[in-house]
Amino acid sequence: MAYELISTETRGRVALVTLNRPKQMNALNPQLMQELGQALYAFDADDAIGAIVITGNDKAFAAGADIGAMKDWNFIDVYRADYITRDWEHIRRIRKPVIAAVAGYALGGGNELALMCDIVIAAENAKFGQPEINLGVLPGAGGTQRLPRAVGKAKAMDMCLTARMMDAAEAEKAGLVSRVVPLEKLLDEALAVAAKIAAYSLPAVMMVKESINAAYEMPLSEGVHFERRLFHAAFALADQKEGMAAFVDKRKPEFKNK
Ligand code: CAA
Repeated sequence: MAYELISTETRGRVALVTLNRPKQMNALNPQLMQELGQALYAFDADDAIGAIVITGNDKAFAAGADIGAMKDWNFIDVYRADYITRDWEHIRRIRKPVIAAVAGYALGGGNELALMCDIVIAAENAKFGQPEINLGVLPGAGGTQRLPRAVGKAKAMDMCLTARMMDAAEAEKAGLVSRVVPLEKLLDEALAVAAKIAAYSLPAVMMVKESINAAYEMPLSEGVHFERRLFHAAFALADQKEGMAAFVDKRKPEFKNK
């Protein structure tokens, strides 16, 4: 598949998607988000892939939705086009783990894209923010919803109401990112994490992702019940037999992803 605003490659069982509008700080326009969705669906359907990394460049993961593209749109334009809903929510339907490797700016929709990924790994120069208030609007791709779940109400209000950016150290402390690494190590670290995940049993990995995401959608007792049912279902996997037998036999498991 030929893409214009992203590039894709594979490294073993890991797929790497690079956002590629460097002159616009990877501003996210509908075409880029459509291409990203297509690439993610293709890798999700590909049995040879076990995990996906999304990255940008050293200066920007993505500086948000494309302001130039949006500036003249009216209510009816965005309502009829189902703006954001149509092109931005593909990532939530991807069942394999998606890791965001963030260097530089992750602002507005860029931060929201990172928040839609399963793991965020940041370079030391990463900056996270929801500066939409500067533009006379509010976050529109989950910033007011996923951000407070990630960092709590106090910091989410602070970021969304003042446009203050968080640096990588604060983002790690607040729970927005899981690891911070030097810029030159960012991609290697993200690819290594993805490769580690991709070597495990794919259905078990998918169940972990599904179960953790369910924690955000249901009360605790229902969530634990959902987890228990998936845990019981895992005993139907050949990989459960292999994983546990390998432990008992003191050897490395050979997962067959079934
Ligand atoms: N949309 C369109 N173009 C953008 C952009 C964006 N979100 N962010 C940066 N650019 C463009 C700039 O217009 C500039 O283009 P030109 O060279 O043609 O002038 C180029 O990228 C480089 O940007 P700067 O010259 O501004 O670079 P800088 O280093 O001085 O500043 C920055 C970098 C802090 C990221 C600054 O560009 C900035 O504040 N960008 C806007 C961030 C923003 O407001 N994001 C939220 C967008 S709204 C949104 O995302 C809604 C939602 O929830 C879905």
